[in-house]
Amino acid sequence: MATVISITNRKGGTGKSTTTVNLSAEFAIRGKRTLVIDMDTQAHATLGLGFSPNKNSQKVHSLFLEPEFILSKALFQTKWENLFIMPANPLFEHGRVSNNKLLKEGLKSAGIIEEFDFILIDTPPSLDSLLLNALVASDYVLVPFLPHFLSTEGIRSLARIFFKIATTENPSLKLLGLVPVMINQRIQQHRKVTENVSNQFGRNKVFSGIRTDIKLVEAFENHTPVKFYSPYSRGAVDYEILAEEVLREIHRRNSILLT
Ligand SMILES: Nc1ncnc2c1ncn2[C@@H]1O[C@H](COP(=O)(O)OP(=O)(O)O)[C@@H](O)[C@H]1O
Ligand SMILES: [Mg+2]
Repeated sequence: MATVISITNRKGGTGKSTTTVNLSAEFAIRGKRTLVIDMDTQAHATLGLGFSPNKNSQKVHSLFLEPEFILSKALFQTKWENLFIMPANPLFEHGRVSNNKLLKEGLKSAGIIEEFDFILIDTPPSLDSLLLNALVASDYVLVPFLPHFLSTEGIRSLARIFFKIATTENPSLKLLGLVPVMINQRIQQHRKVTENVSNQFGRNKVFSGIRTDIKLVEAFENHTPVKFYSPYSRGAVDYEILAEEVLREIHRRNSILLT
């Protein structure tokens, strides 16, 4: 049974797609069967995993155009073992979706939930039904954020939507944690914003974070997770640590549920 995690923030450029691609690769390396669902029509996670969004193949967004669409038709193996992609359709027009449960029901009826250990959903920053479909289908939300003063509004706006969904359409939705991205601990402002976020959400809700590293940009341009592009880079090391922390946290929560 897959654990489903939405990677999300209401702001663009906060490392959502980079985190989706590199965390999924870390899970796959650890032998976890992992599926990335690219809900963002910018298709960055699709590209980052070496898949062309322009290829004439089925996309996750077909689900919102054809009510009878079977999601497994849009499921593809990437070049890497244990790592699968459901690509985005860059031509899909937002605003065409009225039902927030389509993704959840589609994953269930196609039996995809049983096939995987993890499903990571990359989400669009805009508040529309694509984001709501992702949140309704998820067990957890993981929020990458830039440690700048302006970024707190994106988190606050997401928190409002999170609580709305968690109190209505998906009561099992939980905040997994927040990930500071592009950090430089020498910059005092970064430390201050991360402190504020820790105070707001709880210290145990903030993961150790991803330093700024040009190798992450290069890896994306090469359509490859950083672990396979530059395995000893800062970015690769930081995503490895994040994966360990996330797996430990999910394991901890599951053991609480069982006791
Ligand atoms: N830790 C990092 N260091 C340097 N550049 C990064 C890092 N994380 C992301 N980037 C770059 O920042 C830009 C925005 O990241 P992206 O993951 O696409 O954000 P989002 O999906 O939230 O819009 C991309 O060009 C990406 O390559
Ligand atoms: Mg993105």
